[in-house]
Amino acid sequence: MSLLLRPAFASPQLHLRVAAKLHSARSCSTFNVTGYMPEAAAFPGVRDYPGLRDLSVQHPERFWGILGRERLAWITPFHTVSDCDLTQGRVRWFEGGQLNVSVNCIDRHVHMSPDKVALIWERDEPGAHVKITYRQLLEVTCRLANTLKRQGVRKGDRVVIYMPASPIAVASMLACARIGAVHTVVFAGFSAEALANRIQDAQSETVITTNQALRGGRVIELKKTVDQAVKLCPSIKRVLIAMRTENKVPMSNIDIPLEEEMMKEEAVCDPVAMESEDMLFLLYTSGSTGKPKGVVHTQAGYLLYTSLTHKYVFDYHDGDVFGCVADIGWITGHSYVVYGPLCNGGTTVLFESTPVYPNPGRYWETVERLKINHFYCAPTAIRLLLKYGDTWVKSHDRSSLKTLGTVGEPINSEAWNWYYKVVGDGRCPVLDTWWQTETGGICISPHPAGRDAKIVPAMAMRPFFGIDPVLVDDQGRRLEGNKVSGSLCIAKPWPGMARTIYNDHDRFVDTYFKAYPNHFFTGDGAHRSEEGYYQIIGRLDDVINISGHRLGTAEIEGAVNQHQVVAESAAIGCAHEVKGEGSYVFIVLKDGINISEDTIDKELKDIVSQKIAKYAAPDHIQIVKRLPKTRSGKIMRRVLRKIVENKIDELGDLTTLDDHVAVEEIVAGREKILEKEAKN
Ligand code: WT7
Repeated sequence: MSLLLRPAFASPQLHLRVAAKLHSARSCSTFNVTGYMPEAAAFPGVRDYPGLRDLSVQHPERFWGILGRERLAWITPFHTVSDCDLTQGRVRWFEGGQLNVSVNCIDRHVHMSPDKVALIWERDEPGAHVKITYRQLLEVTCRLANTLKRQGVRKGDRVVIYMPASPIAVASMLACARIGAVHTVVFAGFSAEALANRIQDAQSETVITTNQALRGGRVIELKKTVDQAVKLCPSIKRVLIAMRTENKVPMSNIDIPLEEEMMKEEAVCDPVAMESEDMLFLLYTSGSTGKPKGVVHTQAGYLLYTSLTHKYVFDYHDGDVFGCVADIGWITGHSYVVYGPLCNGGTTVLFESTPVYPNPGRYWETVERLKINHFYCAPTAIRLLLKYGDTWVKSHDRSSLKTLGTVGEPINSEAWNWYYKVVGDGRCPVLDTWWQTETGGICISPHPAGRDAKIVPAMAMRPFFGIDPVLVDDQGRRLEGNKVSGSLCIAKPWPGMARTIYNDHDRFVDTYFKAYPNHFFTGDGAHRSEEGYYQIIGRLDDVINISGHRLGTAEIEGAVNQHQVVAESAAIGCAHEVKGEGSYVFIVLKDGINISEDTIDKELKDIVSQKIAKYAAPDHIQIVKRLPKTRSGKIMRRVLRKIVENKIDELGDLTTLDDHVAVEEIVAGREKILEKEAKN
């Protein structure tokens, strides 16, 4: 354990320094900048939040240098704050430094307060939460790390984690971090084929899973799905299985009972000294091609950025209970269930269930029972719950709540207002937070801006420290001034941003740094308001956002095209009342095929569920004779979108359209569907 700890963040000296500063009676208004951020003491002349933000953007080296030193526990201090060249997609922070992420997230808090609760596992079974202290988390993580080592997992190896939110899943992530393995968590709702694709791309030898899972009271055969996936993955050497239920599952010669092995191991495990830029994890996310990309995040920069955003966006204070209900299979779960809160020594909730199990009061009953102070969810859940009315909310005590947040997709005003007025009783700031898998943490949100800063409903508003958003037009020109809309780019690197796409740096450069040279291109459109605040409009590429989950239309088409009667297809996003977006798929059948609409509808939903995940199943399927294409053969999705939106008079320029009859036929078909829906 000699490698451990220089507990700078929680150091008493720092707090004394801060206290001294507070007493030196700076005559600024109500906002005390060093009370707000102790490190601001190192920036003379900075008096308020705007001053701190300006400094972070104009002098990123100074800002991040101090924060990096003070907030993380280093084994070896870094010598270079940042070394980035966005034209090459080169992003490097805190080089020369060595640290261990699991030490930052566990050990240093064990030293300060071992019995503090780290995790509250809100199990699927209502009312059956489990608390895990920092001391317990360290023990479980060490036993798991030792088990991985004994089974042959080495530094740099990729470990696939396919399990629902649970302490053992979090310990699996942290155990990888402890021994320097790279985790890749795959959302447990993904199908066997989707899991297999990710295992293959990551060239992983190890999977950690559970025998079964429970979700909304239903049993899910997780291990069976892993068995199917592993058949397609010769690289797999071992599958570690934790027991979520009592039920035994068939075990093969590569299957290892995880808890049994852990009990044989020691409860201490020396952390490996990792370089700042060593890989911490891969997380697969959809792009505009059929192949999901493995977004790579590294150690120090990611950890610093998630912990800083967790602290300042939500105004997290020691002792608060942080309730982010996202699954650990998404970036939100990585950054705001696991790494951000634990790095800050916080208490974080692991939510295993659904918003409507056993009834639509589940979230608020959980808030009441666990005394949650900060609640963070997706707009889709708010839209769903508001349909059930206010009683489910009002029958629970929500006085513990201090902040409410949303993420993943645009939030409409109705949902925002309901969240603010009904859930928060008009007392809590509601924060619409914008970010992406690639950004590592929150980039635009109403706070931090000081406690009393104005919030415009349903708007992400303000860039976080170090984030320099710019709007760019189609010609690549930077749009100056307010009341403008364009492609959202970020002009400067920040510590939390992705470093590459696993095994495909060219794709990384092409996707994010080619459209607008020397800028990170987000793929989203945004508007800068009259007052200079940012409003996110939505994706500009062929990515749709279903219940806050990203999906490429090319992925849906890839799955649909595997059905034997389908000649070709085109998938587009369409408005969906609850999910935000759904998918609408046009298909052309092969010659001579005769199949009923109901049959093909069901079969295509099945095939997409089987190839990708249930949430990806198309909402609408329309059989057409041919797709509208340009003379060079490109599908004109813009035209399809207008037809689905029933904006026939806005089809736009059709001069490149190859066959006008195709469009007329599709419009006629769409009208028939609308008539049928109206009758039902
Ligand atoms: C895409 C990123 C970041 C965690 C969850 C999603 C959309 C995200 C917002 C928001 C409007 C949003 C964007 C973005 N998005 N937050 N507050 N308002 N749109 O992560 O799967 O990487 O998806 O989600 O389109 O590009 P992700």
